Amino acid sequence: MQKKQPSRREFLKTSAALGAAVSVLGAMPRVHAASTDTLRLGLIGCGGRGSGAIRDALTADPNTKLTVIADAFADRAKNSLEALVKEYKDRIDVQDRIFLGIEGYKQVMDHCDVVLLCETPHFRKFSLRAAVEAGKHIFCEKPVAVDAPGVLHVRESCAIAKEKGLNLVSGLCWRYDTNVLDMMKRIQDGAIGDILSIRETYLTSKPWSRSPAPGDTEMMAQVRNWLNFTWLSGDHNTEQHIHSLDKSLWAMGDKPPVAAFGIGARMAMTAQPQWGDVYDAMAVCYEYPDGKNVYSYCRQQANCFGEVQDIFIGTKGTASVLQGVITGDNPYKQKKVTDKSMTLLEHIALFDAIRSGGSKYINNGGYMCDSTMMAILGRMACYTGQKITWDDAVASTESLAPDGYTWNSNPPTLPDAEGRYKIAVPGLGMVYHTVQR
Ligand SMILES: NC(=O)c1ccc[n+]([C@@H]2O[C@H](COP(=O)([O-])OP(=O)(O)OC[C@H]3O[C@@H](n4cnc5c(N)ncnc54)[C@H](O)[C@@H]3O)[C@@H](O)[C@H]2O)c1
Repeated sequence: MQKKQPSRREFLKTSAALGAAVSVLGAMPRVHAASTDTLRLGLIGCGGRGSGAIRDALTADPNTKLTVIADAFADRAKNSLEALVKEYKDRIDVQDRIFLGIEGYKQVMDHCDVVLLCETPHFRKFSLRAAVEAGKHIFCEKPVAVDAPGVLHVRESCAIAKEKGLNLVSGLCWRYDTNVLDMMKRIQDGAIGDILSIRETYLTSKPWSRSPAPGDTEMMAQVRNWLNFTWLSGDHNTEQHIHSLDKSLWAMGDKPPVAAFGIGARMAMTAQPQWGDVYDAMAVCYEYPDGKNVYSYCRQQANCFGEVQDIFIGTKGTASVLQGVITGDNPYKQKKVTDKSMTLLEHIALFDAIRSGGSKYINNGGYMCDSTMMAILGRMACYTGQKITWDDAVASTESLAPDGYTWNSNPPTLPDAEGRYKIAVPGLGMVYHTVQR
């Protein structure tokens, strides 16, 4: 088990000076909180989203303080904390409660009431289980797992959270977006009749890759560059396109598809180790009963056509959800409904629920597991070239796990002597990629 990196001592010296010297509340788990109680926030994963989620939480509820953070890497924790201290001053009371390494999340639970899980997707099932076992309220980023056994593990954690009355809000933020909620209500109320098909697009360029630091083990290098390794991110059908798939799941009454087939490859973003072992394009047809389909396209290639849309085609019209437009029998053009961002709104809902004494209990576990599984099903169909049923995908025991969780453990994919990782080739399995740039 890796708890610390060599630079931790040095980092703690700096960060102790950053945190305001305010004593923290006791370590007893509290399921309900009065509006006057200060709720202590813990952050796991201090990257772009984690830092943003803490901003949202501090804005959503004035009686909150950030009291503990964890990240795999010291520099990520340090940069995030420094920026937050500058902005929020005495609402940041972290002092020396900074835990590093892959399993630093375990120590977070002793120092918070609400925990924000914003780390690399592979590790989410572990931090989520630790959080429910410790009796914490949870904000849980998407995706919640990278393989079917992981989704199962998360489903169990969500059930435990429910039993314990722990609120659990998912980072599938479109479910909290006021404009999207307005569109979905109209669609569910019949504005476009019965949905026959859905077109989902997430066509973008590659968000980023990160180079190894001097002295990195293979495990460190991959965790640093996590977006580009399937075992860590789930690939982009899971990591990014899940937002679109979640909207189609929602529109289909939160019923998952029965099967999927797909076409995917790695065509433009092929350099290794930079782009790891993920695909750069996937097109998946998700089949529903009665001949209904969700046609889903995601791409992360530079210099190509870009589009992020959800277009629902029904018996009485068509809805373009993010554009806020309905055509057909019940035409509609949405006007801006709110100035609050969806990520702020999801935190407002979380703290409202925590402070409601149970009357506004939230547990988003069902759809966050189903849309993660839907995304994994699509990836499995593309990687194998097979048509796969939902039931077979859910029952899959394929586990994308390393041989341990230390910095010296072996990730499930290792480079060959030429520095190449194996890539899934439909119909063939895993082979070393031959194209290098
Ligand atoms: N809801 C949204 O709109 C949205 C937007 C962006 C990202 N996300 C999700 O948020 C998560 C983080 O994304 P990001 O963009 O902030 O990435 P990021 O790389 O900026 O941050 C992730 C952080 O997690 C750290 N980390 C890795 N393994 C860890 C572990 N075992 N314990 C603690 N920390 C660990 C990394 O070092 C990194 O600092 C991802 O799941 C991503 O899909 C959601």
